[in-house]
Amino acid sequence: MKTKCIGILTAGGDCPGLNAAIRGVAKAAIQYGIRVVGIQDGFRGLVENRIVDLDNKSVSGILTQGGTMLGSSRDRLSAMPMGDKTLDMTDVAVSNLTRLHIDCLVCLGGDGTQRGALYLQEKGGVNVMTLPKTIDNDVGLTDITFGFDTALGIATEAIDRLHTTATSHHRIIICEIMGHDAGWLALGAGIAGGADVILIPEIPYDLSVIGQHIDHRRMMGKRFSIIALAEGAVSIEELTHKKKDKPKVIRDGMIEEPKAHRIARQLRELTGVDARVTSLGHVQRGGAPSATDRLLCTRLGAAATQLLNEGTYNVMVGIKNNACVPFPLHEVAGKTKLVPPDHPWVKTAHLVDTCMGAPDCMAQRGL
Ligand code: F6P
Repeated sequence: MKTKCIGILTAGGDCPGLNAAIRGVAKAAIQYGIRVVGIQDGFRGLVENRIVDLDNKSVSGILTQGGTMLGSSRDRLSAMPMGDKTLDMTDVAVSNLTRLHIDCLVCLGGDGTQRGALYLQEKGGVNVMTLPKTIDNDVGLTDITFGFDTALGIATEAIDRLHTTATSHHRIIICEIMGHDAGWLALGAGIAGGADVILIPEIPYDLSVIGQHIDHRRMMGKRFSIIALAEGAVSIEELTHKKKDKPKVIRDGMIEEPKAHRIARQLRELTGVDARVTSLGHVQRGGAPSATDRLLCTRLGAAATQLLNEGTYNVMVGIKNNACVPFPLHEVAGKTKLVPPDHPWVKTAHLVDTCMGAPDCMAQRGL
């Protein structure tokens, strides 16, 4: 079957590089004579039939821009809030795609989008193609996701800046880093920024181990410590006792004590060193993509279109050994890529005397 028209949408949390990927797909498609239809705000816009034609002019100048020109949403076809109901809107999506004569829907997104695209393929019989987008780097099978490199740079720069102020005031500074349930971003930025402690969800931490490390640093004349804390990090205690991260009442009303603040308080009590928290939040997802992400997005987008033009559908185009590779979507969807505790980056962290918070951390570092 000759591909004549494709739709493209961006779903889930945005990230730098989405526009570069849209441009990569669209420019290559235009070269092949394929019509490109942009769908606004992810699967929500598909159901509501909000579309824009993408031509050379509309995708020109977007390579360097952060965010997504199409808008995004986290709405899923299988359970979409519609008024006061939550409905499966797959049939509506399929009829809109049919009316637009779209031969294949290209979905740019993370873990949830891979699952959403597979659902549309299996339930709606629609041809789909996906690209792995997320600052979390947690999509299965691909070596890397786009957006990760830019966020890594932002988080690393933040740690650099925190270093100078932590040193001046002899403080512990906890830098909370996104990543959902995966520790890639905190681990990568922690190593690149020279954090003294890195806490990731895949390696549950023991607070006393961190306290010992901070004491040890103090004995060596280092009166400050930087902690790169992944947002999904958990303590052994929480895991063992299945203790929920309950909000803590500080004064009169209900004021939550978020995890990073709780760790800061506990470390202050444990070590006597003053502690502060910086939560990087959505700064990590904002702004222009790095050169590495622009290159990656353009490669993935163009490769996806090349495959579409050859009639290959229902795959995610990812990276394996630096090559653009189509992975069957059913093998990718639902496979979250976590940091294996024996990953080379973890080994590197140990080798440069970074505390990862686990009880065997000292032994891992040869102490
Ligand atoms: O998946 C990307 C991500 O930025 C995660 O790192 C984070 O947990 C989540 O999205 C935040 O989502 P939202 O922007 O919806 O608050």
